[in-house]
Amino acid sequence: MSLSGEKAPQKRYRIAWLPGDGIGIEVLAAARVVLDKLHFTAEYVHGDIGWEFWCKEGDAFPQRTIDLLKSVDAAMFGAITSKPVKAAEAELVPELKGRGLVYRSPIVRMRQLFDLYNCLRPCKAYPGNPLNFKENIDLVVFRENTEDLYSGVEFNQVPPELAEVLARLSKPFAAFKDLPGDQYAISTKINTRKGSERIIREAFEFAKKFGRKKVTVVHKANVVRATDGLFLETAREVAQGYPEIQMDNANIDAMCMWLLKNPFNYDVLVAPNLYGDIISDLCAQMVGGLGFGCSGNIGEKLAVFEPTHGSAPKYSGQQKVNPIATILAAKMMLDWLGETEMGARLETATAAVIKEGKVRTYDMGGANKTLEMAEAIAAKL
Ligand code: IPM
Ligand code: MG
Repeated sequence: MSLSGEKAPQKRYRIAWLPGDGIGIEVLAAARVVLDKLHFTAEYVHGDIGWEFWCKEGDAFPQRTIDLLKSVDAAMFGAITSKPVKAAEAELVPELKGRGLVYRSPIVRMRQLFDLYNCLRPCKAYPGNPLNFKENIDLVVFRENTEDLYSGVEFNQVPPELAEVLARLSKPFAAFKDLPGDQYAISTKINTRKGSERIIREAFEFAKKFGRKKVTVVHKANVVRATDGLFLETAREVAQGYPEIQMDNANIDAMCMWLLKNPFNYDVLVAPNLYGDIISDLCAQMVGGLGFGCSGNIGEKLAVFEPTHGSAPKYSGQQKVNPIATILAAKMMLDWLGETEMGARLETATAAVIKEGKVRTYDMGGANKTLEMAEAIAAKL
């Protein structure tokens, strides 16, 4: 409040708007309906990203979009069509022929380029959602977002220098040494102490701030000893700084079973990149599936919010899919920007529409359109 008693004008944010492909366009349009109704004051700047730009320019995440992301407070991202395109397949696209290109997922590149190391995925069962696995599930997944098996250091054609080093250093590998380089492939899992420490710390800080009781560290340290061992060891060190919070740990495979058996034994989960990817889909399914999984890719300077789902080309242009995941991602963006009052209002309105059950998209057993869901939520704001 200003001295005159008038409310100070709200900050005008600069938000990168990256709809991407397929239904990404529709769900982002739905999120705009609720942001506008909240009177969130922003300059939305469109950014090109996705399959279309790969086909036209050989780059799904063009430099101009990277530059845009350097100039914004935050970004909303829809979805992109990620296809595992090998160089040979790119040769079949006339515009890309002869350029030796390999498709890399733009979102994975974005996470690395902007060091968006914290992938935050809250999974809450809103009362009345017919898709809830059980009522009252309220899990929060912290996924390391820049390293691990996503490091991008991979070899389809293993170079002889690497084969030689491996043969020298690893007994089992010596047997492969003389295999032609295209008879095996290597994807490296790289986990650093720093990368592990900061995501684990995020999880504990969150638990402390929001009064959560337990942080469960998900790994496979019994087999993947070096990298997951480092992750678990780091977690034990970090946990010492939070005596009020219980630390628990579980192997990823057992975790999947136990989560289904008793989700109420868990609270905050933290995992290296790939296990976090897997476990967050499982948790999202327990609270309604693709229509409800929201995600923040958060770094020190930039954060990009998105629904966890993909671009669902088969539903593209039909106004069919549930926009709630994206609307909850918008709520996460508001919170991250410090607009927590708006964020809370948006969540309350979304929860009210779910509870009422009058407006439901096809996944929830209803026939309402994407925009109708957004308008129903906006009407409660
Ligand atoms: C996710 C997705 C992405 C990932 C894909 C689209 C590259 O599954 O955000 O969870 O693996 O991280
Ligand atoms: Mg995933």
